[in-house]
Order: sequence, then C-alpha cells, then structure tokens
Amino acid sequence: MYPKDLLQEIRNKFCHVDTCPFSGERIFFENAGGSLTLKSVAKRSGDLAAIPDNQGRDNRGSQGVMDLIKKSKADALEFFDTEKGSILIGESGTELLFRLIRSAILASDKGTVVGSTLEHPASRSASTKWAAHASKELRLVQHCKESGSVKIDQYLSKITQDVGVATIVHTSPVTGIGVEIKELTQGIKSISPDCFIIVDGIQHAPHGDINIRDYPIDGYVISPYKVFSRHGYGLAWISDRLRNLPHENLMKGPKENWDLGTRDVGSYATFSDVVNYFEWLGSRVSNASTRREKFAHASKFIKLQEQKLVKTMLYGKDNVRGLSDYPKIKIIGGLENELREGLVSFSFPEFTSDVLVKELNSRGIRTHVRKSDHYSANILEPLGLESCVRVSMCHYNSEDEVIHFLTSMSEIMHQ
Ligand SMILES: Cc1ncc(COP(=O)(O)O)c(C=O)c1O
Repeated sequence: MYPKDLLQEIRNKFCHVDTCPFSGERIFFENAGGSLTLKSVAKRSGDLAAIPDNQGRDNRGSQGVMDLIKKSKADALEFFDTEKGSILIGESGTELLFRLIRSAILASDKGTVVGSTLEHPASRSASTKWAAHASKELRLVQHCKESGSVKIDQYLSKITQDVGVATIVHTSPVTGIGVEIKELTQGIKSISPDCFIIVDGIQHAPHGDINIRDYPIDGYVISPYKVFSRHGYGLAWISDRLRNLPHENLMKGPKENWDLGTRDVGSYATFSDVVNYFEWLGSRVSNASTRREKFAHASKFIKLQEQKLVKTMLYGKDNVRGLSDYPKIKIIGGLENELREGLVSFSFPEFTSDVLVKELNSRGIRTHVRKSDHYSANILEPLGLESCVRVSMCHYNSEDEVIHFLTSMSEIMHQ
C-alpha cells in the first residue's frame, strides 16, 4: 500500500468519499455503477450551468465556451493517446454505442458482424438490431466462463474477410475482467483489414491505460460518470473513417459534425477535469515530465493499488479471512486472474445475493446485486448462477475499507 497521506490526498479530491448525503456514513464499493465524482467536476458543472452563452456567436462569452470545448477535445485525445480522430459527446454510453455501431453496420459493404457474449447489452442490442435490419449475419463469440473474459484465438476464429464490423467490450462490468484489446484488435485487422471495430471502454476507463494509438479501431466509447465525472453524457472517440460515414446531421450543415443539437459545455469541460486528475496523480507518483507519461504512471499506480485491494479482499490479512477462505463461495473469473480490474463478483449457495447486499448495506457498505436479467444473464446463466454480489473497488478505496468489508462478511456469514 502507498503511504496513507497520499491516499488521503487522493480522497480529498473526490466528493462523498465516505458519507452518502442520503444514508450517512458508508464505504463505497459500487464504483462499477458510477465512480465517485471529482470535486473539481462538481464545481465546474455549477459554474458552467450558470453561463447563458451559446457557441458560434461573435462575443467573448461565446468564444469562452468554444475555447473550453476545444480544450476538452484536445485533452480527451491526449488522454486516449492519439492525435487522430475526433471526440464526440452524446446522451449516454449506450446511445453512443448504438449510433456508432448502427452507422458502421449500415455503411459496411461486407456481410458479417462479429461480437461476443461478454458484451454489455448496449453493444449487443445495437449489433443484433442493426445486423438484422441490414440482413447481415451476426456471429457471436462465446466468452470463457471460467476466466470471465474473451479468448483471443476464439474471437479470431470467427473473423473472416467478410467481417465488416466487430464489437468488443474492453472490460466486463459483471466479471470485472478485461480483454487484451491490442492483441485482439490487431488480430482482427490482420484477417479483415477493412473491418470497423467499435470498443465499449465504459467499464475500463476508470483504470486509465487507454492507448488508441495501439488499437486499429474506429470507435471507443466511455461514460464519464464511471470515470470521476458526472451523469448526463457519454463520450466517444471516432476515427476519421467512421466520422465520414453517413450519419444524422443537419441538412446543408458541416458533414463531419456528429453533435446533434446544442451540447452542454459542462460535459466537455468536466472531462478536462478528469484528464487533469490523471495528470495530477501521475505527477504525484512519478517524476515524469510529459503529460502522456504522467497518464501512464497514473494508470500503473491505479492498477497496482487495485490489485492490492483485490488481493486483500480475496486472501484476507492477518487474522481477517478473505473471500477465498469460504469453502462454498463461487468467485466469478477465478482467484488468480491477471486481467481482473478492481472488481470481485461472487455468490454463495446458502445465501441469496440480495440478502447479502442488504446486510452489507445495513453495516454501511455499499455493493450491488447483479441478477440473471437482461443486463447480466449472459454471464450468470452459463455459470448456473441466479445472482451475484458485485464489489467494485477503485484506487481511492483503502485497505481499511476492505478489512471492514471482510469483517462484516464474517459477521453476516456466522450470524
Ligand atoms: C461495459 C458497459 N457498457 C455500457 C454501459 C451502459 O452505459 P451508460 O449507462 O452510460 O449508457 C455500462 C453501464 O453499466 C457498462 O458497464
């Protein structure tokens, strides 16, 4: 663990770290449902909500607003590690995935679309609907139920030269396990060079480490409320090739414009605050000089910190038993999994998950139950589970919080 004062410094940057305005003191292990919000984001949202000026006018207010948007787009490109392509704001991650996938499927002159069963219903629904609409074949790669991820060779075995669109989830919000995106995207392109690849990076984004330069893709979608910003918008990177495909926009307006109507400048500006946070964190944990190096160091730090928290959660500490000490527990994705990103989903045959989540809640620990419904059945059904408890941690969580969780689990299991 890093020194407690650095953790405190990090925690001081966020709102409602250990107290919920509705329920009082609590430990927040529901980060996959929406991360904590940066204080800078909350302040900026309020400041900008008060500004009446719109873009495209010849006055200082309008110019100020446009400068913020321009800066945010440049920040996002730098954060995603690319100089190419464009940044686009939409209503939500789901909406952007639908728009990008629909545009790619309708424009591609090839007959097949490929995705995997690991994906969130946002991309799965979009590719199912639009592949059928365009009379294209949809091939689904079965994810590996043991590892909770997608095996590269299995995915690539479904790729042929006839595949025009491929969808990938970077990290599953139910298993918490990532996909080796660089290897997979490069593999797809080596078989079908013209294939449009759209990545759902929504669950991966709070862990940093996004390097679009290395991924031969056309779209990468995130939801800023899951990466330290706030609700109310989604954000996507699109390649020039995708941007130039037919899409909805105003007649006689600029063809490259994907924004539908007036966008909230606060959406853009608060993403600059997120990028600034990663830069700040990188400068606190390294002597790196460039912004990009700082992002890389921040991501490395986040990964290590989350791995340590996961390790304590699984194996316990001193005389506090970890989750793996419960003989009947089923931990999704297994115990040793290099690709796990701060999230542990588990279930017990003798306890229903919603009872556990309720009991944890009553002890001030916020987790979430995932049920075998339209969001999570793709993961739970193959494992024969009706539900699971999802504990999602982030780098600002502390080992003390994990210990408190484990002690509470022990209390609940033995009451
Ligand atoms: C991987 C993944 N994709 C898509 C979504 C949907 O995102 P949004 O709520 O921004 O539409 C989520 C939300 O949980 C997610 O985790």
